[in-house]
Amino acid sequence: MLKLTRLRIYPFLIGANILFFCCYSYSYLSHKAQGDAPHTSHLSAVAGQHFPATTLLNHGQVATVPRATPPARPRPQSKTTPPELGVVASQDPKSDYKTLTRIILDTTGGCGNATSYDAIVTVHTAPAHIQHRNMFRKIYGDFRNTKPYRLKVVFLLGLVSNQAEDERLKAEAARHHDIVQGNFLDHYHNLTYKAIMGFQWLDERCKGLKLLLRLDDDTFVHVQKLIELWESKHSGESSTIMCEAVYNDPVRRAGRWRVSQAEINATRYRFHHCLGYFAALSPGLIPRMHAAAKQLQFFWIDDVFMYGMVPKLLGDVKFDRKSNPWTRNAGLFEDCLEVKGDKCPHLVTIANFRKFETFLRYIKEKVG
Ligand SMILES: *[C@@H]1O[C@H](CO)[C@@H](O)[C@H](O)[C@H]1NC(C)=O
Ligand SMILES: *[C@@H]1O[C@H](CO)[C@@H](O)[C@H](O)[C@H]1NC(C)=O
Ligand SMILES: *[C@@H]1O[C@H](CO)[C@@H](O)[C@H](O)[C@H]1NC(C)=O
Repeated sequence: MLKLTRLRIYPFLIGANILFFCCYSYSYLSHKAQGDAPHTSHLSAVAGQHFPATTLLNHGQVATVPRATPPARPRPQSKTTPPELGVVASQDPKSDYKTLTRIILDTTGGCGNATSYDAIVTVHTAPAHIQHRNMFRKIYGDFRNTKPYRLKVVFLLGLVSNQAEDERLKAEAARHHDIVQGNFLDHYHNLTYKAIMGFQWLDERCKGLKLLLRLDDDTFVHVQKLIELWESKHSGESSTIMCEAVYNDPVRRAGRWRVSQAEINATRYRFHHCLGYFAALSPGLIPRMHAAAKQLQFFWIDDVFMYGMVPKLLGDVKFDRKSNPWTRNAGLFEDCLEVKGDKCPHLVTIANFRKFETFLRYIKEKVG
């Protein structure tokens, strides 16, 4: 595998690396799109098309690398293009929020005194992903791995139709006290209900938290560095979201995450939205986003809805797009950690959970 250091020394290698990078990403993401992680974000449909080449670079380096695929540039709207997507509140949005986001199982006991945690981590996870959850319990739920910070990890789930699976889930919930289950069938078309339910749980049962980290169950985070970054830049702010935000993202008309013309009759989402695998949020946003979400018409693509339409409706949400600690390339992330350990500027990636302990080991081995 190409190492970052080499990458920086020999610019001509960069092209080859990008090729590797795109193939790697493509194969990972198409694999993902085939149903490996169907209940997490719609990133599979998004990525591959606009990996900015800057992802390869460290902070402060100039992004002179040509992009592997030409970026989709926003075009000026002509008279024949569909109308711009309006995001408007409705007092009576046609939706089943009341019924479906009802929490039917909560073994967490709430957050207790949430001020004793440095961050609350809510995880979108699929019922079958027991191993993912166990890895999360190990990596983020164990103080030895997050010290000096304390995190509380909460898994958000829907209903399962299979009775044996339901029993397994209930037993897991009773054992670990970290599962919140909503009154909707766990399905990728129902992820928006999951997102709203998560905010409802936070709003009602987790008062006083300091930082919210919203993760998919295949998202790895260098916890200490990430919290330090947040605290140095955003502590005390009331309405900031730090995530890999995209702007003017095209509305997809094909594939698993396709949206029909009847659902959205615009070609682009003309607002910022986070790619759903990771978001860090000011606690002040929780009650406001919860309330705003329930005023919007249901739209099933959860990250566009919760981290795009909802902030757009609120109007004053600040997206931190300058901090750029993400890379969706797990191979690159691993190489970077192996070489630089704790000094690797990438703090968040999407990866197979089996890699998480390796990542953690590299971080611990080379604390600078
Ligand atoms: C989408 O918008 C165009 C242009 O305004 C309009 O002609 C078309 O009927 C709309 N389609 C739907 C499905 O609403
Ligand atoms: C919650 O915890 C914080 C810090 O640990 C403490 O200062 C505060 O008094 C606690 N509040 C309650 C209501 O227990
Ligand atoms: C979403 O959840 C509702 C309520 O459980 C269910 O009726 C519906 O079939 C689910 N949607 C999908 C696409 O599974």
